[in-house]
Formats: sequence, C-alpha cells, structure tokens
Amino acid sequence: MTIQTYATYEELSRKTADLIIESVKDKPNPLVCLASGHTPIGVFKCLVEDVKAGKLDISNWTFVGLDEWNGMNGTTKGSCRQMMDEDLFEPLSIPEKQIVFFDGTQPNVQAQCDEVNELIHQHGGLDVMLVGIGLNGHIGMNEPGTAFDTFAHISQLAEETITVGQKYFPGETKLSTGITMGLKHFQEARLPIIMANGEKKADIIAKVAASQPIESLPASIVHMTPQAYIMVDRAAGSLL
Ligand code: F6R
Repeated sequence: MTIQTYATYEELSRKTADLIIESVKDKPNPLVCLASGHTPIGVFKCLVEDVKAGKLDISNWTFVGLDEWNGMNGTTKGSCRQMMDEDLFEPLSIPEKQIVFFDGTQPNVQAQCDEVNELIHQHGGLDVMLVGIGLNGHIGMNEPGTAFDTFAHISQLAEETITVGQKYFPGETKLSTGITMGLKHFQEARLPIIMANGEKKADIIAKVAASQPIESLPASIVHMTPQAYIMVDRAAGSLL
C-alpha cells in the first residue's frame, strides 16, 4: 500500500484523476468504479475539464457506481446517483449504456448485486475503484464488521453513517440500508484508491494506516491490498 500526501485538495484531486487516467489509458474497455459523496467531487471536476479540453477520451469507459441508499435512485436529490449525475455524468453527457448503477427503488436489489458481481468477475476485476472513507472507517457502505471477502451486497447502515449521511440531503431523510460494492472488489481491483481530505478525516486515516487488517475497520483492508493507494491532502494526513 502506498500513501501519498498533497498540499491541497485541488492538488490531491488532480493527482488522483491523473493516476486513474494513466492506469486505464491503454485499456480497451476500462471498468471504473467511483464513489459518490463529497470527497471525489474534485476528481470529477478534473475529469470533466480534461474531456472538455480534448485531453481525455472516456468514450470507452464504463462507470460503475460504488453504492446507493435503499429506496433511492437518481430522482432523489442527494442520492449517490443524483450527485454523480450532477458532477460527472451530465456535464459530460455520458450515455446510460456507459453507466452501471444500483437502483435502490427496485425490489430486485439482490439480482442487481448478482448482475454487477458477474460483470466485474467477467471483466477480471475492476480496473479502478475510487472510494472515500467514513469517520467510522467504512468504504462504500461496507460498515465495521463486514467480512473482507464480500462482493456486492445489501448493507445495514451504522448509526454514524445514518447521522453523517444527512449532510447530502435537503431535509431530514430516513436511511437504514444501502447497496454497495464489496471489500473483495476493492482488494481485487487493479487500482484501488482510498481518497480523503480535510482535518475531520485525519483521525480515521491515521487509525487505518496504523492498523492491522481487521474487519472492525473496513478500510484496513488496504493492508491486504499491496497495489492500493491512500491519497490524502495535508489536513487529512496531518496525524500520519
Ligand atoms: C459514497 C460512499 C461513502 C463515502 C464516505 C465519505 O458513495 O460510499 O463511503 O465515500 O462516507 O463521504 P464524504 O466523501 O462525503 O466525506
């Protein structure tokens, strides 16, 4: 595992975008799994700028959404899909056929998990998996206690995730479960990245960096993932 620290959020975002772009540039049909939430917004901005400047062609990428809240899809303001529509898919007019995303409004969520697991398996693993990190060490919606060998699954959200998750929504929102890619996807990805910024993330980043791989701290799977990166700005890396 490699830890990289950058002076600012802007630099962190640029370097993370560059790492992703470089890793897939010779791939005929890259499968790129991206988190929603606030952390990767700067990376999306870089991707949008590069495409608009004619420096990057993403027409052969397939975008895989990392997770979604149960009961939501892109029509809910603050959902994972809606945020990514706003910051990435719509600015680039990415066609639906290049997007694979959980729809938490459908009754067949297990079938959606099976389908995405099969897609990733057939591809030989994700080319890129960019995740943020929760204050409790979750990645995706893999909460503390999730087995390291899980693929996509339905997750019971931790209390802290339900509380902190309110920040995405315009009003108080009932959250209880989610659908998420698994920790095994992270471990098997060719380029797995945990990205974090801001001083709020400093404690958890230091804890993960110092930890053994242990299921009570999902992000600690990085210690079983030699090709993984932890990319942080100076504030998030201040306790390393
Ligand atoms: C979002 C996701 C979450 C977030 C994490 C950090 O798709 O899976 O695990 O990455 O909670 O959230 P932010 O980036 O808002 O600090």
